[in-house]
Amino acid sequence: MVSQLLKYIILTKSFSCSLEQKSHIIEVLMSNSRFLFIVVPLLFLAVLVMPNPGACQESANCLACHSAMKGKIKNAGGAMVELNVDADKFGASKHGALSCTDCHMRFADNPHSTPSGDVPQAVLALSSKIASKFKVDPVAGAACSTCHEEVYKMVLGSVHGKNIVDKHQMDGALCLDCHGSPHYITSVKDESSPMSRKHQVETCGKCHGDKKIIEKYKLEENVMESYEESFHGRKLFLGHTKAPTCSSCHSSHDIRSKTDPASPVFGKNKLVTCGKCHKGANEKFVPAITHKRPGPIPHYGEKLLIILTIGVFAFIVIHVLLEAFADIRDAIFRKKEEEE
Ligand code: HEC
Ligand code: HEC
Ligand code: HEC
Ligand code: HEC
Ligand code: HEC
Ligand code: HEC
Ligand code: HEC
Repeated sequence: MVSQLLKYIILTKSFSCSLEQKSHIIEVLMSNSRFLFIVVPLLFLAVLVMPNPGACQESANCLACHSAMKGKIKNAGGAMVELNVDADKFGASKHGALSCTDCHMRFADNPHSTPSGDVPQAVLALSSKIASKFKVDPVAGAACSTCHEEVYKMVLGSVHGKNIVDKHQMDGALCLDCHGSPHYITSVKDESSPMSRKHQVETCGKCHGDKKIIEKYKLEENVMESYEESFHGRKLFLGHTKAPTCSSCHSSHDIRSKTDPASPVFGKNKLVTCGKCHKGANEKFVPAITHKRPGPIPHYGEKLLIILTIGVFAFIVIHVLLEAFADIRDAIFRKKEEEE
C-alpha cells in the first residue's frame, strides 16, 4: 500500500525529472526493502518539497532521499554517517554540476544494496592509502584525483600527505581538512572558503595551534602566536590585501618541512619567497621573520619591563592614597579642634 502511494507521488509530482529517472528512483526504493521503513516518511516529504526548478540531473535521484533525510545514522561499517546533503548549497558549490557518483563511484548503480559502480584501478589503489582519513567512503575521497590529478600528487608528496601515506597517521591535512565539506566546496577566493584570506589562518591553526599535534610532531609551539603578532598577521587582520597568509610563504599543496631543501622557507629559498613581496630582500633581511619564541634576553627583558611598569604605577597609586588619607585625617582633626 505504502509503496503504491509512493509510486503515485513520485510519478505525478511535478518535479522536473524525466519519466525514466523517476522510475529509476522507484526501482531503487523497491529493491531496498529496509529503506521502506526508514525512508518512506521522509521521502514523502522530499517529493513534496523537492520540486527543484533546476534540470533533473542524476544527482536528483540521490537527493530525493538525501536532501530530505536529517541526522546521523550508524552504517554497516560502524561509522556515523551524516545523511543530509543540502541540495541548494550543493548546487551553488563549485561541484554543483557534478553527479554524486562522479565521486561516490561505488554507488553508481543501485546505491546501497550492492555498491557495484566501476571504480578505476588507480582510484581504488589510492583509496586504500588514504582510508585512515575516510571512515565512510574512501573511494569518494580518492575520486578527486580523477579531475585534480596534479594537485593530488602534490598533496601526497607534501609533509601532510606523507604523514598519512608513509607514516600511516591521520593527523596530516588532506583536501577536506583545508577545503571543508566535500559537498559545499567554494572557490578559495570566496570569503566562505576555509582557505580564503579571511579564514585560512584559523583553518591551519586548528592543527598548528593544537597542543597534541605540536607535541606529537615536536613542532614549534609558537607558530600561531608569532604569526598573529607579526607585522604580517596584524596587517592581514586589518584587511591589508597584500599581507601574506600562511600559504604565501609555505605554498598551498606542496607544503614541506622546514628542513626539506625544497621548502620555500629553507635557507636561501627565502630570498625568493620574501622577494615576491619585498623587492631586493637580501640575506640580512630574510631572517627577520620566524615563528621561534623570542630568545631568553628579549623574553625576560620584556617581563622585567612589565614588572617595572607595574611597580611604578603601584608606587604612585599608594602614594596618592596615603596623601589623600593624610588630608582626610588632618581635616577631621582640624574640625575636632575647632569644635573643642
Ligand atoms: C532510497 C533512499 C536513498 C537513495 C535514493 C540514496 N540513498 Fe544514500 N543513503 C540512504 C540511507 C538510508 C543511508 C544510511 C546508511 C545506510 O544504511 O547505508 C544512506 C547512506 C549513504 C552514504 C554513506 C555511506 C554508507 O555506506 O553508509 C552515501 C555516500 C550515500 N548514501 C550516497 C548516495 C548516492 C551517491 C546516491 C545516489 C546514487 C544515494 N545515496 C541514493 C538512502 C538513500
Ligand atoms: C566532489 C566529490 C563529491 C560529490 C560530487 C559528492 N560527494 Fe558525497 N562525499 C564525498 C566525500 C569525499 C565524502 C566523505 C567520505 C568519508 O568521510 O569517508 C562524502 C560523504 C557523503 C555522505 C556521508 C556524509 C558524512 O560525512 O557522514 C553522504 C550521505 C554523501 N556524501 C552523499 C552525497 C550525495 C547525495 C551527493 C550528490 C548530491 C554527493 N554526496 C556528492 C564526496 C563527494
Ligand atoms: C594544507 C591545505 C590544503 C590542502 C591539504 C589542500 N588544499 Fe587545495 N588549496 C589550498 C589553498 C591555500 C589554495 C589556494 C591557492 C592559491 O590561491 O594559489 C588551494 C587551491 C585549490 C584549487 C584551485 C587552485 C589550484 O591550485 O588549482 C584546487 C582545485 C584545490 N585546491 C584542490 C585540492 C585537492 C583536490 C586537494 C586534495 C588532494 C587539496 N586541494 C588539498 C589549500 C589546501
Ligand atoms: C568530475 C570532476 C571533479 C571531481 C571528481 C572533483 N572535482 Fe573539484 N572541481 C571540478 C571542477 C570542474 C571545478 C570548477 C573549476 C572552476 O570553476 O574553475 C572544481 C573546483 C574545485 C575546487 C575550487 C577551486 C577554486 O576555484 O578555488 C576545489 C577546492 C576542488 N574542486 C576540490 C575537490 C575535491 C576535494 C574533490 C574530491 C572530494 C574534488 N574537487 C573532486 C571537478 C571535479
Ligand atoms: C612571512 C613568511 C611566513 C608566514 C606568513 C608563515 N610562515 Fe611558517 N615558517 C616561515 C619560516 C621562515 C619558517 C622556518 C622556521 C622559522 O624560521 O621559524 C616557518 C616554519 C613553519 C613551521 C615549522 C615550525 C617548526 O619549527 O616546527 C610551521 C608548522 C609553520 N611555519 C606553519 C605556519 C602557519 C600555520 C602559518 C600561518 C598562520 C605560517 N606558518 C605563516 C615563514 C612563514
Ligand atoms: C588536519 C591538520 C592540519 C592542517 C589543517 C594543517 N596542517 Fe600542517 N601539519 C600537520 C601535521 C600533523 C604536520 C606534521 C606532519 C609530520 O611531521 O608527519 C604538519 C606539518 C606542517 C609543516 C611542516 C613543519 C615542519 O616540520 O617544518 C608546515 C610548514 C605546515 N604543516 C603548514 C601548514 C599550513 C600552511 C596549513 C594551512 C594552509 C596547514 N599546515 C594545515 C597538520 C595540519
Ligand atoms: C605576500 C606578500 C609578502 C610576503 C611573501 C612577505 N611579506 Fe613581509 N610584508 C608584506 C606586507 C604587505 C608588509 C607590510 C608593509 C607595510 O605596510 O609597509 C610586510 C612587512 C614586513 C616587515 C616589517 C616592515 C618592513 O617592511 O620592514 C618585515 C620585517 C617583513 N615583512 C619581512 C618579511 C620576510 C622576512 C619575509 C619572508 C620570510 C616576508 N616578509 C614575506 C608582505 C609580504
